[in-house]
Amino acid sequence: MPLVTSKEMFERAMKEHYAIGAFNVNNMEIIQGIVSAAAEENSPVILQASSSAIKYAGYNYLLKMVEAATQETNIPIVLHLDHGPDFETCKACIDAGFTSVMIDGSKYDFEENVALTKKVVDYAHERGVVVEAEIGKLAGVEDEVNVSEDDARYTNPDEAYEFVQRTGCDSLAIAIGTSHGAYKFSGEPRLRYDILQKVKEKLPNTPIVLHGASTVIPELLEMCNKYGGNIPGAQGVPDEMLKKAGELGVSKINVDTDLRLAMTASIRKVFAENPEVFDPRKYCGEARKMIKNTVQNKIRNVFCSSNKA
Ligand code: G3H
Ligand code: 13P
Ligand code: ZN
Repeated sequence: MPLVTSKEMFERAMKEHYAIGAFNVNNMEIIQGIVSAAAEENSPVILQASSSAIKYAGYNYLLKMVEAATQETNIPIVLHLDHGPDFETCKACIDAGFTSVMIDGSKYDFEENVALTKKVVDYAHERGVVVEAEIGKLAGVEDEVNVSEDDARYTNPDEAYEFVQRTGCDSLAIAIGTSHGAYKFSGEPRLRYDILQKVKEKLPNTPIVLHGASTVIPELLEMCNKYGGNIPGAQGVPDEMLKKAGELGVSKINVDTDLRLAMTASIRKVFAENPEVFDPRKYCGEARKMIKNTVQNKIRNVFCSSNKA
């Protein structure tokens, strides 16, 4: 099946109250691991590449590897640009054949974000490509601040409404307490479901996106640390909280850190237990299996069994 946009999968996800998994890809093993998990679960999937992933692997390699995945499976696959930093990068991805792009204007003020997003939307829509935009700042664990400052950092539902009306973006990433990376919360994990609900009341037909949504899977973290890693005290968003976000109207959940942990933990284990191994297929093969296993568990536990292609 050729690459698809996220339009139909989001429509169904919104109707049935679950989220679609969006997984970051950087190399062949990651792509193969994710796609084989999604194919076994008969689940649609979003493969997303950041601009640093594109710099690392190259447009052509990423695109051709994802196209190879579409030829070998029958599930709907979206190829999405994650955190597009500017118009030029979005344009290059659209021209290259990506079916979805994110323009991340969250670093700009509201008016600049609107103008930039609108420019990308106009270019993308003329070519049948969908656009994710972002409003609000994702938290960092180091940003633990008082309540009023905290509120200022989360997405403002009225602004979210105005932003979508003025830009025509197809989906919207909002800030409700998640953050990128392995250190998301210093205390108990907490998400502002109340803000999500207010945004959904105002934008019932707009798919909402949750970035920084890795669980920082404890078993993977433990495995990394056991075999020589040094990632102490990391903590993410538990699966039940992600599931609840899906039920309350989040349609896309982004996962990168958990895949990094899966890959690193498995390679560390091979090296620690088999110092004689130097065939990359041995450790990259284990990493691919671990990626598959991690994505399959995510699909079963979070993206739910009704999430079918
Ligand atoms: O949200 C960011 C993703 O985890 C991608 O990270 O820019 O290092 O590829 P990256
Ligand atoms: P994590 O760092 O929580 O995996 O978030 C990934 C992400 O938001 C990619 O855009
Ligand atoms: Zn992100």
